[in-house]
Amino acid sequence: MEVSLAVTIDGVKRVSQRLEKLPGSATMAISNRARELRAEGQDVVSFGAGEPDFPTPAHIIEAATIAAKDPATHKYSQNVGLPPLRDAIVDYTREFSGVDIESDQIVVTNGAKQAIFQSFAALIDPGDEVLLPTPHWVTYPAGVQLAGGVPVAVETTIDEGFKVSVEQLEAARTERTKLLVFVSPSNPTGSVYSAGEARAIGQWCLDSDVWLVADEIYQRLVYDGSAAAASIAAVTDGLENVLLINGVAKSFAMTGWRVGWMIGPTDVINAAARHQSHATSNVNNIAQMAAMEALRGPQETVDEMRRIFDTRRNRMIGLLKEEPRIRLFEPDGAFYVFPNVQDLLGDRYPTSADLGDGLINEAGVAVVPGESFGAPGHLRLSYALADDDLERGVEKMLTMFGSI
Ligand SMILES: Cc1ncc(COP(=O)(O)O)c(C=O)c1O
Repeated sequence: MEVSLAVTIDGVKRVSQRLEKLPGSATMAISNRARELRAEGQDVVSFGAGEPDFPTPAHIIEAATIAAKDPATHKYSQNVGLPPLRDAIVDYTREFSGVDIESDQIVVTNGAKQAIFQSFAALIDPGDEVLLPTPHWVTYPAGVQLAGGVPVAVETTIDEGFKVSVEQLEAARTERTKLLVFVSPSNPTGSVYSAGEARAIGQWCLDSDVWLVADEIYQRLVYDGSAAAASIAAVTDGLENVLLINGVAKSFAMTGWRVGWMIGPTDVINAAARHQSHATSNVNNIAQMAAMEALRGPQETVDEMRRIFDTRRNRMIGLLKEEPRIRLFEPDGAFYVFPNVQDLLGDRYPTSADLGDGLINEAGVAVVPGESFGAPGHLRLSYALADDDLERGVEKMLTMFGSI
């Protein structure tokens, strides 16, 4: 039987209204496009990737190899996560987020993405408003909308270091405001909230009866010498209204293993666990054992990766400063820069999306335009790529900018 790809057949819609308008992940689309062009033999440098370019550390792979040979891992397991991994998450959260939790406050998920989707599913009723400091990661509005919520952008600019203030949040609050998404370090800007700034926002959430979904996936990728960014849950008073999101993807170069988790009050966590029991059951047991080794095992590789990212960050900043029409915010965390390129736009490239198209098609450089993050006029460049590629890619980019 031939399957039609038409959206309607005889006037009948095939795709649900909910999914018809859902855009695919822009960051994944850019990486796919770069892969396609490379497969055609073109030289493309990709600044699109949201993942470390390092292999997963060997001791973690070894733990997975052992786990794969254990018949116990070949069966379904507790949908909320393997008990030893949940215990490891308790200790890890105490160490790096500074928060004391019990293991029954955790659901282990298929990456932080599932934790975010499940947090929204557990908290949002139709019409509830969700405050999204902008620029924001592409997946948050998609997740909010799928849960029936309404994303409310709260705009921040380069002048405030892309950080939202309590005054802005208060101005955006209505009686439908249900939660705030807080991410520090941020994707796409790399900005990091100080403990004081985080405390003010956490306190505002408590006082205003607004939930917090705090995404800490980049918490250990900070470049100020500290071991982790301040956790909003630690600096505010307890976990009463906070869901913490975390995972092994970014800190341990484990994006493909798909292990994340959510932490929160048991009523919400139990609701999320029920959701997961129907949606995906347990996370791959072998990947869970690998994640456990990541959390419990030697941590030197995290420090080493962070050191390399820091060197690349400085190199990237130095190179981009050569183009005076770029306005640069110097990031303190994650592995992205988010330059404002407004002064490069005009007749040839009216928008940053056009400039992004020009870069990949004419210069062989893949970047993610700011439009995808609710911030037109910017580009996101990941510096999680090899030093030579970084230098070559920025050079190609600046050469193209020189011709504008
Ligand atoms: C801010 C943020 N949160 C969560 C994720 C997803 O992490 P995971 O790979 O664990 O699903 C990403 C990945 O790009 C991210 O940038």
